[in-house]
Amino acid sequence: MHFLPLIEAKREGQELAAEQIQEFIRAYTAGQIPSYQVAAFLMAVYFRGLTTAETRALTLAMRDSGEVLQFPPDPRPLVDKHSTGGIGDKVSLPLAPLLACLGFRVPMISGRGLGITGGTLDKLDSIPGFQSLPPAGRIVELVQRVGCVIGGQTERMVPADKELYALRDATATVPSIPLIVASILSKKLAEGLGALVLDVKFGAAAFMPTREKARALARALVTLSAECGVNTRALLTNMETPLGRAAGNWLEVKESVLCLDGRGPGDLRELVLACAAHLLVQTGKAATLAAAHAQAAACLDSGQPRRKWDEMIAAQGADLAAFAGKLARDHTAPVVAALKAPAAGFVARCDARIIGEVVRDLGGGRFTKEAGINYDVGVDALAKIGEAVPAGGVLARVHAADAAQADAACARLKAAFEVAAQPVAAPPLIVETVEPAP
Ligand code: URA
Repeated sequence: MHFLPLIEAKREGQELAAEQIQEFIRAYTAGQIPSYQVAAFLMAVYFRGLTTAETRALTLAMRDSGEVLQFPPDPRPLVDKHSTGGIGDKVSLPLAPLLACLGFRVPMISGRGLGITGGTLDKLDSIPGFQSLPPAGRIVELVQRVGCVIGGQTERMVPADKELYALRDATATVPSIPLIVASILSKKLAEGLGALVLDVKFGAAAFMPTREKARALARALVTLSAECGVNTRALLTNMETPLGRAAGNWLEVKESVLCLDGRGPGDLRELVLACAAHLLVQTGKAATLAAAHAQAAACLDSGQPRRKWDEMIAAQGADLAAFAGKLARDHTAPVVAALKAPAAGFVARCDARIIGEVVRDLGGGRFTKEAGINYDVGVDALAKIGEAVPAGGVLARVHAADAAQADAACARLKAAFEVAAQPVAAPPLIVETVEPAP
């Protein structure tokens, strides 16, 4: 098959047949199409878009480019959550054991961070001994036994997305809604899920800068996912300001454990419980969102998910004694410095984008996929919008590899905060729920 006519058709805005898209993905994954032609195709899609039928064909072809997890029959529904990514977004970590304790199976396939947004796998890799890349067979076995796994995509899962995503990254074609939908859902569908909750973020530090764009992406995701047989809802959440009080790999693991211990920040708990509550309703385990929320909160507060967390990380190789020892330390980075409020007042702004950039530049994130990261650096003790601070009160603590980097980070962080004389209301976190049209 020659791909030039397919590129020409898309360039002219014509609709491609499902078979053409399937053949394109098959041949591309087999290395039979030069990447310059695929790049041209992606740019044509970027400008012309894809119809719902084309997006569906692309998503399913990408899912089927590799292995799909196969689970034995079991009364526990298979569920997952996906976030489009943000600063301090560690929801997956407490959510997976909570869902397992609520009677779900959770094959949570996660990714690494790139740029300013952190990645769940990088966070987990800061745990001594933790193995974030179990093979597919082991993922199924662990989900069946423990109830939850958080791991990376295996070599054989959705190989088409690995190739395409790298090419999109290099050809400025990432921000195309049909390409994003196919990329996200091909991976989620490869988990064999029954229900999915999506956290689609908007704001300065999010993939989608505005609420309108986030809503458009959420609608496209829930519609196609539901069409593919997965009961799906999306929450639109605010990413102007970080989630929780910590950003940085190990610092976020620590905060996740605090959440499981009932001592975490309110916004993190709110989002964890909301995701769990929606899944309880979506799977018929609760009749109303209010009842589901109460059920999820009671489960979290029982301490059972905290024990499930230990069981999950131990099953994935973690050394629990070393983990507990690390948790007990105030900091693991060599230097900690505090940014202090110049005057008393109320926190009016805590800019997620600046904080994300500072954490990345401290070594907590990466500029290229291949780069290494420093797990111990980051920012914690972040003051939240609306909180009162005294003059000299801590706005944030910086965890750095050396004093010079700590000083530079504190200087840059000043621009992330605004302290107002008058009280300020905290902005709502979850602003909308998007469901498939009935
Ligand atoms: N996350 C993905 O997995 N794919 C995209 O295209 C964008 C965000």
